[in-house]
Amino acid sequence: MKLDMKLKPELGVCYYPEHWPEDIWADDARRMVEMGLPWVRVGEFAWSRLEAEPNQFTFEWLDRAIETLANTGLKIVMCTPTATPPRWMVDKYPDMLAWDAEGRPRGFGSRRHYDFSHEGYRAECVRIARILGERYGAHPSIKAWQIDNEYGCHDTTISYSPVAKQAFQKWLFEKYKTIDDLNSRWGTVFWSMEYSRFDQIECPNLTVTEPMPAHAMDFRRFASDQVVSFNKLQSDVLRDHTKVDLLHNYMGRVTEFDHFAVGEDLDIATWDSYPLGFLEDRSDHDADYRAKYSREGDADFQALHHDLYRAVGKGRWWVLEQQPGPVNWAPHNPSPKAGQVRQWTLDAFDHGAEVVAYFRWRQLPFGPEQMHAGLLRCDGELSEGGKEVMALARELESYVPNKARATVAIVFDYASQWAWEVQPQDQNFNYFRLILDVYTGLRRSGHDVIDILPSTSEDFGDYDAVFIPGLFTWTDALRGAIERFNGQLIIGPRTGSRNEDFHIPQTLPPGLDGLKVTAVDTLRPDTPLSLKDGGHLQIWREDIETNWTVIDKTTGGKPARVTSENMTYWAGWPDAEALDIWLSQMLSNR
Ligand code: GAL
Repeated sequence: MKLDMKLKPELGVCYYPEHWPEDIWADDARRMVEMGLPWVRVGEFAWSRLEAEPNQFTFEWLDRAIETLANTGLKIVMCTPTATPPRWMVDKYPDMLAWDAEGRPRGFGSRRHYDFSHEGYRAECVRIARILGERYGAHPSIKAWQIDNEYGCHDTTISYSPVAKQAFQKWLFEKYKTIDDLNSRWGTVFWSMEYSRFDQIECPNLTVTEPMPAHAMDFRRFASDQVVSFNKLQSDVLRDHTKVDLLHNYMGRVTEFDHFAVGEDLDIATWDSYPLGFLEDRSDHDADYRAKYSREGDADFQALHHDLYRAVGKGRWWVLEQQPGPVNWAPHNPSPKAGQVRQWTLDAFDHGAEVVAYFRWRQLPFGPEQMHAGLLRCDGELSEGGKEVMALARELESYVPNKARATVAIVFDYASQWAWEVQPQDQNFNYFRLILDVYTGLRRSGHDVIDILPSTSEDFGDYDAVFIPGLFTWTDALRGAIERFNGQLIIGPRTGSRNEDFHIPQTLPPGLDGLKVTAVDTLRPDTPLSLKDGGHLQIWREDIETNWTVIDKTTGGKPARVTSENMTYWAGWPDAEALDIWLSQMLSNR
């Protein structure tokens, strides 16, 4: 994928006029422009101020806020407020709340309190999106629309509610048509789990022990599809009223829905980049690493998301919320070191971002995020991050992003994350972690920008190498892409080890000629296996039968890396040392 570097990088900020007295809006807008922030995002949580009671609208304040921002020349990202249904909505539809895995409804009192499957709430979202679209869709200063806010954040993709159960049964009926087909493909003969009707099927929580993997996997597919169709309802209605770009702001390491599928209905992928929060809150690194990078974050984690969202946006992507100082929500919330906000911003542009916007304009003295930094302090003076951004905006006038073009790519497949959560086999086997390990190894070997490819890719183009680690099941598209590809293919571990129905393939994995995985051995953190060429296998190792050439072995003599023509298979998960050795041998053999 080519990075489009013709675009001039631009900055922006997230603003909540409803949080501030109206008499400071004009000054805020003027200061945004003076700081060099041409973009401003508004409205994503403002539903209760727009419709305090059903069908009683108060748009005038938002009209005035938009005019105030527009009069200074700011470009506006307008949002639909559907991540924060107002209290009356929950009174109207008490069953719209999602349920957790313990079978408890999640309460009103923060945000994202809705179930993607609730038909009444879906209709309300279409209604508010239509009303907003009618009112603002043609506004000349509104240059983009954001739908909802951070799908899946706060563990909100999956719900085990009665409405989810009903929608799941319908989804299953549409997929299988007959209960016999479902029974045979799920394999419900095991433990006498056979069903006679679709309405007997529950969500796969609260079972005494493990549910059928195929049941749990279908539930994950269903949950993802609900997000996709929820988003599409709003994108369809907005398209009737506006010609500008539609986007969503995705989160870091949220893998419960297929972002590529959501992205099909949008024009730009954006993501919310909180490097220090992510390092503390969702990194696999140990305490020493986290301490070392506590004021910078994990640059590889950041870069992976930049590259992932570039793929989700089919080349077009932004950072819509960039951390400008400490956040409030991680176990520890340090401030970035001096210069780091600038560095994060430049890194995003070097990966092809069109816009980087900061969350938020001014620190808010009330509410759960009162400890979250903004570009301004509560007293309206510039924060440390704000000062950095102000200087950066000047620097950007002449900044030319690096023109790196990716020569290697990694296939990233959301369904594989779900599959290996359904069946980890080893508690440390995490698909995202495997992808991030490979990605990080490639960065250490000198690849700053790496393309991420969905499992629907039909053609790998002219990359030097494409990596397909941990893929749950082959797609026809990938099979075709592999056949046509002349570069190096690096496959495994665990790739192709199940069919669509979560069965072990009859001919044994990975489904490549001359190679069979005959057994799997998982490795405790204290039992890594050393390799002849250096480094270790960790977490996962496979016994293979093969006529391929063995190029690395465990010191005990088991094949660990084998090759045939342009393909290499990894029969285990290399640690960082082994990965560096394998990648350097591979890249020098080119
Ligand atoms: C994001 C969210 C924002 C704000 C921010 C705080 O996840 O979209 O609304 O809560 O986190 O860091």
